[in-house]
Amino acid sequence: MISKILNSQLTFGSKNSPVKPFKIETTQGALSVRELSKSNIKASSEFMFDCLVSSGDDGWDKYKNCDKATKKHVLSWFNTLTEHCLNKEDGNSTVLVAKDKNNKIKAYFNLQNFDEMDMLYKTGLKDAKTGFVQSCYVASDYRSQKVGEKILEKMLPTANGFFTDILLSAGKQAVTFYQKMGFVPCENISSESKKVTDFFMSKPDKDGTVLMYKSINKLEPCWNRLVKLIK
Ligand SMILES: CC(C)(COP(=O)(O)OP(=O)(O)OC[C@H]1O[C@@H](n2cnc3c(N)ncnc32)[C@H](O)[C@@H]1OP(=O)(O)O)[C@@H](O)C(=O)NCCC(=O)NCCS
Repeated sequence: MISKILNSQLTFGSKNSPVKPFKIETTQGALSVRELSKSNIKASSEFMFDCLVSSGDDGWDKYKNCDKATKKHVLSWFNTLTEHCLNKEDGNSTVLVAKDKNNKIKAYFNLQNFDEMDMLYKTGLKDAKTGFVQSCYVASDYRSQKVGEKILEKMLPTANGFFTDILLSAGKQAVTFYQKMGFVPCENISSESKKVTDFFMSKPDKDGTVLMYKSINKLEPCWNRLVKLIK
């Protein structure tokens, strides 16, 4: 199994295991969840921007009253990131959006390959097959109705069979949510893990961002391998 994963040319993403559209009932009506289409990239970037500036996540509040040019620059960066995910030949990404009855985006979730983040290359662990939850955003008026939970429950299984584990970097406001979804702060895995989180995070703990990990099968998780490498 491990060799299947490490040598796999196959991909985990929704290209190979498409997520069927589904609905989530909320007090404001049903949300329709489906994979993001190219025509919705700009709308999803606008949605993410609004969520980020209002979440207090990772210093994004400084963009609350930013000028038009700065906002345009950030949006174009988001567009590029999402286009890259959707265009990937290897299919290593799953991007889901939830829309209300007026076709407005109310949630955006993105799972991709961790090595995309360049972090594993920094460590020399080039053969890791680790998923990375890049974005989880639910519109403020739809929170605490299990929307996040239900979308993650559909998104994470698209990594099964091709990845050893899933990592993410959680803003302090989202740590409890991810813990409920089975993620563990990497520092809690072993006493040695702190060295790895320090290696990754330029300013650990300062802004409260926490690296978290979830095992999705019985294979040795990437995190254990990193702990052995970075001593
Ligand atoms: C974090 C976020 C995605 C959670 O989505 P959600 O739809 O509100 O969460 P759910 O209703 O599915 O919650 C699932 C569980 O997590 C808990 N939870 C969710 N958000 C929480 C929070 N901020 N603090 C504490 N617990 C939280 C819920 O209480 C629920 O627990 P329960 O099963 O015991 O009732 C959403 O709040 C959000 O978009 N926040 C702003 C953006 C953000 O911070 N994203 C993460 C970036 S790292």
